[in-house]
Amino acid sequence: MAVERTFSMIKPDATKRNLTGAITKMLEDAGLRVVASRRVWMSRREAEGFYAVHKERPFFGELVESMSSGPTVVQVLEGENAIAKNREVMGATNPANADEGTIRKVHALSIGENSVHGSDAPETAAQEIAYWFSQTQVVG
Ligand code: CMP
Repeated sequence: MAVERTFSMIKPDATKRNLTGAITKMLEDAGLRVVASRRVWMSRREAEGFYAVHKERPFFGELVESMSSGPTVVQVLEGENAIAKNREVMGATNPANADEGTIRKVHALSIGENSVHGSDAPETAAQEIAYWFSQTQVVG
């Protein structure tokens, strides 16, 4: 297995409930290492750009509204098989379908306020990391 990097966000619904530490601990306990981390309050324009792949979806307006409603912690995670491992510890997009013990099962409120985001493939991980971080800000 290769050491990979992936992109993660702790979303406003979670930061508003003071869950940054609790969620980061779940990521670390899964064997992931935080190699970059920054707290941002994204503008509508930044949220629209980040989620541009979803712009035709009916939930796009709600998604942009929610992501620009408070602070987000943007992170780069590193570890063996980090992309798949992060998605496993996050759980299903809809918390109603998430496995026991996953971040979304434990903390998410709904599909729209699902506490975390994680890249789904190496290409998107590279794009999403580059959207928020320069190379020198990622320190492994
Ligand atoms: P995320 O992994 O950040 O990727 C896109 C986000 O869109 C997703 O998590 C959800 O928060 C949100 N989303 C997906 N489907 C819906 C939906 N049906 N209604 C509202 N939000 C959604």
